[in-house]
Amino acid sequence: MACIGTWTFSLAAINSCADQIQSNHTSLDSLIQGVNVIEEDPSTGVYLVGRGSYPNAEGTVQLDAAVMDGENLHFGSVCTLEGYSKPISVARCVMEKSKHSMIVGSGACKFAHDMGFVAEPNDSLMTEETRMAYEKYKLSSQSVDQVVHDTLAVLCLDKMGNVTAGVSTSGPPFKTPGRVGDSPLPGCGLYADNMAGAAAVTGDGDIMMRYCPSYHIVRLMREGAGVQDACDKVVTEMKERHGAPFEAAVIALNMKGEVGASSLLKEWIDVRNKKVYNGFPYSVWQLGKTPTIQIQQYL
Ligand code: GLY
Repeated sequence: MACIGTWTFSLAAINSCADQIQSNHTSLDSLIQGVNVIEEDPSTGVYLVGRGSYPNAEGTVQLDAAVMDGENLHFGSVCTLEGYSKPISVARCVMEKSKHSMIVGSGACKFAHDMGFVAEPNDSLMTEETRMAYEKYKLSSQSVDQVVHDTLAVLCLDKMGNVTAGVSTSGPPFKTPGRVGDSPLPGCGLYADNMAGAAAVTGDGDIMMRYCPSYHIVRLMREGAGVQDACDKVVTEMKERHGAPFEAAVIALNMKGEVGASSLLKEWIDVRNKKVYNGFPYSVWQLGKTPTIQIQQYL
């Protein structure tokens, strides 16, 4: 039994997942509940997740999320979902209650409504902080290149030996309306397969989606690679192929509950707590241990 999440702010999700898994809940139920904790917390919106996120260039919060079940390779995602604070729960409904794997835009909003989710006005999905940032953006036309690409990704392995991956993000602040990143794409933002384990990524999704890094990590593990080696190999390949520096970090979990992480981050500034980390921080819990933050150095 184990779980791992991107960045320091995932610790509340990992604490929740650890409790749920130890109470014999499935990795899928545990993961959704853990991700919902962060999606619903307005104070973590500045990390580009759920309630309190930054809007797109037209002032609308558009969220992407996905979930993948390693037991059967079932997958569900929503892209550019407007008016709902828990996109991963809608993604789960896509996976379990529709015959599709991905629903986008106005179709995703209608689907969420049909599934019983209650829509909120756009304004209630922002905080005073993100509203003011948007007003400032409109005045200065700050480029999206100057902003970060944090994303919440969580991987869980339960007592029954099932692994699940989930991702939730608003994408970069003030993005072009309709922009979709790597997070809701299978094999790019996340992948889970009980035959090997699970992987997920965070960083510049416009670049990372070209490399299908999550699928590659799981594939390498399936072919016998260790979890850390698989992470390092895929991140090294992206670094070499892309050439120019970009923000990228990956996490992975194998079926023994061993975890790995790798990144191209020299430092990460926690904008909420004003703390600088020398590398990529992530949260991890493994059976018999207390959930903690660990830091992966620049590769
Ligand atoms: N990795 C999140 C995004 O670029 O949307």
